[in-house]
Amino acid sequence: MKPRIAIDGPAGAGKSTVAREVARRLGLAYLDTGAMYRAITLAGLRQNADLHNTAALEELTRNSELDIQSAPNGNIIYLNGENVTEDIRLPEVSRNVSYVARCPEVRDILVGKQREMGNRGGVVMDGRDIGTTVMPDAEYKFFLTASLEERARRLAELHAKGETLALEQMVKEIAARDKIDSERECAPLRPAEDAIHLDSTALTKEEVIESIVNRVSGK
Ligand code: CDP
Ligand code: CDP
Repeated sequence: MKPRIAIDGPAGAGKSTVAREVARRLGLAYLDTGAMYRAITLAGLRQNADLHNTAALEELTRNSELDIQSAPNGNIIYLNGENVTEDIRLPEVSRNVSYVARCPEVRDILVGKQREMGNRGGVVMDGRDIGTTVMPDAEYKFFLTASLEERARRLAELHAKGETLALEQMVKEIAARDKIDSERECAPLRPAEDAIHLDSTALTKEEVIESIVNRVSGK
């Protein structure tokens, strides 16, 4: 069976960028699990749902049809038939997604879908709980980090699109998200015991990609 590779870590560590390219080079499928939590959050914001209410979140998740397609630039996400790949990156979604993702009922449903894909093998999945919960028996597990300032700088640049996102604001927002993600009871952001730790603060994305590809291909 082709390998399963788990890549976890905090916001802006470079997980999606690296995971997507590792998958391409090794001929594996790629799943961005954060995009799934983002899509449910977008659905909730559009419906004015109470994102702090467990029953409302469970119903929202059950009624949201998610379809995830692979493309060269990453996953394309459809929510109830609509392509929401861009909208799930809106700052409003980023600010609210951790409240949705801490709800165990939401996680149950999404983790079920993620495991279905994991069981087929030959996949790179990135998220927060892939090595600990979604694919605890993955052949390779990586925990990717970088300093808070560097992660904020990367995400501010990535999402700027012409407007200047204040770095200080980004530091605050991702620190708040990391805190909720790490402190929640259900599948918190945490390295698996057998994960390989990679600090990318001073590395280029190419160096991180090569480091992972070399380990997996036994170089
Ligand atoms: O790319 P970025 O770091 O902004 O975040 P993401 O990977 O798109 O994930 C967005 C949010 O979804 C995270 O902050 C977590 O709250 C949640 N998430 C999660 O709880 N478990 C996962 N496996 C993936 C994401
Ligand atoms: O998924 P995650 O939130 O961990 O990060 P991302 O969405 O992949 O964004 C990381 C950003 O930092 C991208 O713009 C990358 O080009 C850049 N970057 C990186 O991923 N890795 C490095 N070692 C250096 C920069």
